[in-house]
Amino acid sequence: MDNFNRSICRLNTSSWKWKTANEHQLSFSIADSDYQTAPEIIAAIKKRCDHGIFGYTFVDDEYLEVLVNWVSRRYHYQIRKDWIIPCIGVIPSMAFSIEALTEPGDKIVVQSPVYDPFYAVVTQTNRTLVVNKLLRTENRYVMDFDDLEKCFKDGAKMMILCNPHNPVGRVWDQAELDRLVALCKQYQVILISDEIHCDFILAPKPFISIGKYLSEYDRVLICTAPSKTFNLAGLQNSNIFIPNPRFRAAYSKAAARHFIQSPNVLALTACKAAYALGEPWLEAQLEHLRKNYAFVKEFLVKELPMVKIADLEGTYLVWADLRFLNLTCQEITDGLLEQGMIIKAGETYGEGCNGFIRLNIACGINQLKAGMGMLKSFVLIHLNK
Ligand SMILES: Cc1ncc(COP(=O)(O)O)c(C=O)c1O
Repeated sequence: MDNFNRSICRLNTSSWKWKTANEHQLSFSIADSDYQTAPEIIAAIKKRCDHGIFGYTFVDDEYLEVLVNWVSRRYHYQIRKDWIIPCIGVIPSMAFSIEALTEPGDKIVVQSPVYDPFYAVVTQTNRTLVVNKLLRTENRYVMDFDDLEKCFKDGAKMMILCNPHNPVGRVWDQAELDRLVALCKQYQVILISDEIHCDFILAPKPFISIGKYLSEYDRVLICTAPSKTFNLAGLQNSNIFIPNPRFRAAYSKAAARHFIQSPNVLALTACKAAYALGEPWLEAQLEHLRKNYAFVKEFLVKELPMVKIADLEGTYLVWADLRFLNLTCQEITDGLLEQGMIIKAGETYGEGCNGFIRLNIACGINQLKAGMGMLKSFVLIHLNK
């Protein structure tokens, strides 16, 4: 049994994803993975633990070096060490960016449906939320550039991009990003690009970071983290890249106002090991996720053809359309739970998402098979009512 298919019980481990589950239920909700991280990372953490002293720790040059190399090797652009500001999470770093670079009341654009803290990070910093809805075709979401331009014309100061996109699974194409960056430049909109899922590219297409546009436009901030890629979210570690020196200084001041220091010693250790040694493990994980996704697609075509899913170009989060059931999100969540399946309901991600669910497929194949069986039972019960 390989690492990705070995079933490890997460009940009673303070896992958010499994918090409400009992031994008869399976969770496909929060975006972390149900398999162990890379052995190289576990070994590095154990070694650091054996040292036994966990005093105040700074971000050393080796940490910055492995990150610079990872970005150049995997995303094919060059960052400088002084652009990197480690943080305890992508969302906190977004909040500091907003506080640093906009004023209360300023308009900030997000593209719905989207990971729900994108809304909260705007409203809870007392900025004005502007929603640019993605357009849905049967199995794919695209950007509504006409509406986006209206938002920018209307005075938006900032936009938060999700690439790859949670929950709709898009990895934005070159043409789309060209157009987006050109619009940001035209209207001088600051662009925060959340690239936390960028190591999960399942489709045969490249991931294009906003970092590739720096020579054209540098009013950008790029958020990355090893947390999804290597299943380290509980260690709380992210990195924001800020090429623009004025933005960097403002960001640092905003972060300092919250007395946020660098990530903890084990997070720094894990991040270094991940980016220095974790690449073969990541490639194996990607193979596993591609197989899981192929299984889900095949299962749905054969067993539940009425359930349509958005093409999963990136992330490990499947966005499924159950609107044919004519049920509310609550009814879907409750009904699936009765079968033993815990999911995230569509309405979490924005208005107009009633009837959708998000399924996390970063688990062993047996768990996924059992989950799809639960989904089938739920759908059939409701179709036969
Ligand atoms: C798009 C996106 N951004 C950010 C996060 C959370 O990042 P962090 O835990 O580093 O704040 C998630 C977690 O699911 C996510 O999907």
